[in-house]
Amino acid sequence: MEKKMTSGEIAKKAGVSQKAVRLYDEKGLLKPSDYSEGNYRLYDREALQVLEKIVALKQIGFSLEEIRDNLIKGEAGNVEEALRMQLKAMEEKRYQIDKVIDSINRTLDRKGGNLDWDDVAGIVQNVSIDQKADEWHWDALKHTSEDWHVTLFNAVNVKENEKVLDLGCGYAKIWRNNWKRIPKGTKVFGYDVHGSWADDFAKFIPENKSELADGVEFKIEFEDLTGEAAWKKIKKEKEYSLILAHYLYFEVKNIEDIVARASKVLSKDGVFSYNGYAVNWWYVFFKNDFKAMGLDTSFMDEGIKKQKKAQADSEAMLKKYFSKVEAVELTNSWHYSDSEEIIKKMLENFEENKKYILDNKKKIKDYYDAKIKKDGEVVCERISVFWNCYK
Ligand SMILES: C[S@@+](CC[C@H](N)C(=O)[O-])C[C@H]1O[C@@H](n2cnc3c(N)ncnc32)[C@H](O)[C@@H]1O
Repeated sequence: MEKKMTSGEIAKKAGVSQKAVRLYDEKGLLKPSDYSEGNYRLYDREALQVLEKIVALKQIGFSLEEIRDNLIKGEAGNVEEALRMQLKAMEEKRYQIDKVIDSINRTLDRKGGNLDWDDVAGIVQNVSIDQKADEWHWDALKHTSEDWHVTLFNAVNVKENEKVLDLGCGYAKIWRNNWKRIPKGTKVFGYDVHGSWADDFAKFIPENKSELADGVEFKIEFEDLTGEAAWKKIKKEKEYSLILAHYLYFEVKNIEDIVARASKVLSKDGVFSYNGYAVNWWYVFFKNDFKAMGLDTSFMDEGIKKQKKAQADSEAMLKKYFSKVEAVELTNSWHYSDSEEIIKKMLENFEENKKYILDNKKKIKDYYDAKIKKDGEVVCERISVFWNCYK
């Protein structure tokens, strides 16, 4: 008969501590095969194989819960899916870590020898601002087939030899994601502050310059757009035929001042491309579905009403500085084949109404499950408003 191992022996064989073996037992991952007369745990060869599997899966980043729920009990088919999900999660983690490393390096390069706690706070702020954008980015990667920054780039329609001013250029995905498609002779003047992702973009430019079309040039200036120094520099170039102010409105206190100043440096036939407060399309999408489910939509109606007013205010503000203000509706479709993911998105958008959503979760889930069963997926055609403004 096979001689069973004690917890100390199996731990030694798998290269883990005895405490870990106890923990795996408590968590339901590795049950003893038997107990000795003195009620000590005993393990057979099969248990050792399970333990080795746990150690391997932990090493590639699975949590104990994931190992228990998906892998130990699961069938071979689940392994591939679980590994793919793990790969994605690890790539996300690496991306985040790379950004933190970049942010620390940039601060050290810029302020080396002259650092204080404000610099650390700056790094934290910088990383957390970008984390939100990244979360959106990863979410979009998972659920949309089009690259939003390609859609945006197509919409702004950069022309050959255009002189572009990019206000608050940041990480500049509109340029990075279309790098080789930027038309010949385009000159881009990007403005942002130090300590933002524009530092990263400033590094990216020389490293990738060789892939640009002939005559394409980028110049990044680190200046605060709410101050005079920035506009003194901007005015040196006299006029720009394309000015971008994308996703800047919620980061500056007085966006109107920047819009007013931008209108003065726009060329006669130029375009100022702006986005500001507008209707959040998730509200519209979920509202229609809530109606179909017979649920209360009053909080969504309220939100949409406020957003419509904010959108109208943005448009009215632009009209003070431009003779023609054209709303451009850009769409991107979000695809879902898992009702839980839809509910997650819903909860993100309606945090204050979390209780109502969770109280009705079964109804909501059933509704989306039925749709997914019938059509294979749920699609939200999201509309985002940008404005093209002319002198
Ligand atoms: C949300 S990001 C948008 C970046 C980019 N325009 C885009 O569409 O992805 C806003 C950017 O504006 C920059 N910003 C905020 N306030 C600024 C200011 N006063 N002067 C210059 N840049 C500013 C931030 O540092 C950040 O990079």
